[in-house]
Amino acid sequence: MRIAVYPGSFDPFTYGHLDILERSLRLFDKVIVGVLLNPTKQCLLASSKRVELIKQAVADHDNVVVDQFNGLLIDYCKKVGACAVIRGLRVVSDYEYELQMTNINKQLAPDLETVFMMAASQYSFLSSSIVREVARYGGNLATMVSPATIEELKRCFETTWKIKENK
Ligand code: PNS
Repeated sequence: MRIAVYPGSFDPFTYGHLDILERSLRLFDKVIVGVLLNPTKQCLLASSKRVELIKQAVADHDNVVVDQFNGLLIDYCKKVGACAVIRGLRVVSDYEYELQMTNINKQLAPDLETVFMMAASQYSFLSSSIVREVARYGGNLATMVSPATIEELKRCFETTWKIKENK
């Protein structure tokens, strides 16, 4: 069985991520969405919430598993028996970071491949940080993330606004 890991922060998981994931299912028997638990990175959504929202978004696919990991990606891939890492590429500016990450992973685990998939053109502008920005100012997110994610983002920013109003 060919297993791949699709790792990321997914803060939040967007329709661009979903597109990459669904396309990668044509290449692998099973894809594990690995949500990074990074204590040094401040995320908007709690990791358990991110996992819950991704599980809802991929509920139709029985060959997708959603999991959390910490530590090195290569160690997680070894643990779950993955032969490849999936990464999406949007614009040229993604390339430098991805090249560095791929090369480090290749040095640490020569047998692990990284498979890059180009984002579909309608998602080439989309990122989790853009979604957070639009959500912060109450913009329309319907083409970017799932309805459940929109509800969660609204809750996050409502709390932020209430805290500000009460100051
Ligand atoms: O969605 P992101 O934040 O671009 O994902 C980055 C991620 C999670 C793939 C990367 O930070 C990662 O693999 N972190 C785990 C630690 C690790 O293995 N670092 C060495 C490779 S740079």
